[in-house]
Amino acid sequence: MVKNIAVIRGDGIGPEIVNEAIKVLDKVAQAYGHTFNYTDVDMGGCAIDKYGDPLPVSELQKCVESDSVLLGAVGGNKWNDVPGHMRPEKGLLRLRAGMGVYSNNRPAKIWPQLADASPLKKSIVEQGIDFIIVRELIGGIYFGEHKTEGDTAVDVLRYSESEIERIGRIGFETARKRNKKLCSVEKSNVLDSSRLWKNVMHRLSAEYPDIELSDMLVDNCAMQIVKNPAQFDVVVTENMFGDILSDEASMITGSIGMIPSSSLGATTCGLYEPIHGSAPDIAGKDVANPIGTILSAAMMLRFSFDMPNEADAIENAVSKYLDAGYRTADIMCEGMTLVGCKQCGDLIVSFLTKE
Ligand code: IPM
Ligand code: MG
Repeated sequence: MVKNIAVIRGDGIGPEIVNEAIKVLDKVAQAYGHTFNYTDVDMGGCAIDKYGDPLPVSELQKCVESDSVLLGAVGGNKWNDVPGHMRPEKGLLRLRAGMGVYSNNRPAKIWPQLADASPLKKSIVEQGIDFIIVRELIGGIYFGEHKTEGDTAVDVLRYSESEIERIGRIGFETARKRNKKLCSVEKSNVLDSSRLWKNVMHRLSAEYPDIELSDMLVDNCAMQIVKNPAQFDVVVTENMFGDILSDEASMITGSIGMIPSSSLGATTCGLYEPIHGSAPDIAGKDVANPIGTILSAAMMLRFSFDMPNEADAIENAVSKYLDAGYRTADIMCEGMTLVGCKQCGDLIVSFLTKE
C-alpha cells in the first residue's frame, strides 16, 4: 500500500522523537512492501518563527489532504510571552479542530517490564493497569471564548448534546471491544455542562445494554486512578478533564514518555502524537524517550491504515527492546542499559521483524 503521511516535527524534542518513529515506519515499509511518503508540515513555535503564525492555512491543508498526521510536540519557553491566540499550542488546537478529530484515545497500560518504574505500590501495580481514556478533543473550555478585560479573565466551557453524544458513542464502542465497562467522568455536582454530559451518557446507555455504565466525579476519579486503577476499563470524559487525567494515568504506568495517542473524527485520516510535551529542558541532548511517538506510529497503522500485523510488529519490537534491558533516562533503573534517543530507535528497528 502507498500512504501519504504529513509529518510535524514541531519544537523541543519533537524533531528527535519523530525521526526515530520514521526510522521504524521505514523498516515496516521495507519488511511489508509498503510505501510511506512523508510531507513536512511546520506547526508550533517553529512556524511562528518562520511565518508569524503557529499553523498557517497552507500547512493545515497539507494535513487534511494526507492519509494521516504524525506529530512530535510543540511549544517552549521561547514563545511564552506571545499573545494567547498566537501561542504554539494554538497551532495544535487549530490542527485538531481543522481535522475534526473529536475523539482522542489515550491508553494507560503498564508494560510488565516496567512494573518497577511505576510510582505506585507493588500490591496495586500487581492488580493490573490496563485502561483507555477516551477524551473529547475539540470542544469544551479549550474552544470556548477566551478573553481578558482589565483584571478579569474569562474562559467559556460549553458543550452541546450532539458533541457529547458523538464522543459518548466512541466510549461505548471502545468498551464493547474490551471488557465492556465504561466509566463516564464529569463534575455534575457543580457544572451544568457535566449534568448534560451525564444525562446524554445515560440516554445512550439504553442503546448499549451489554456495556456496564458507571458515573464518577472527576476529583474522585483522580483519586481512584492511584488508589485502584485496576477497576477501570474505558473512561470517557470531556476535553480538559481528559487532559489532566491522562497525564496522571500515564505516570502510574512508569513514564509519560511511553504513551501514544490517536485522534480520529469522521474519516480515517487521524492525528497521532505522544501525550507528552516538547520538553525544552532536554531538547537536542539525545536523551528523550521516542517510544510514545513510535507507538503512536503503530496506532496510525492499526486505526487509519488497517495494518494490524504491521502495528503488532512495532509493539512487539518495543517489547523485545524492553526485554533486552535497554532504557532511556526517564525509565532507567538499576541493572538496565542506558541508551539515548537515537540508539533507542535503532534498537527497536533492529528488533522489528515481519510477524
Ligand atoms: C496534550 C497537551 C495539549 C493539550 C497542549 C499542548 C495544548 O497537554 O495533548 O495533552 O492540553 O491538549
Ligand atoms: Mg496534556
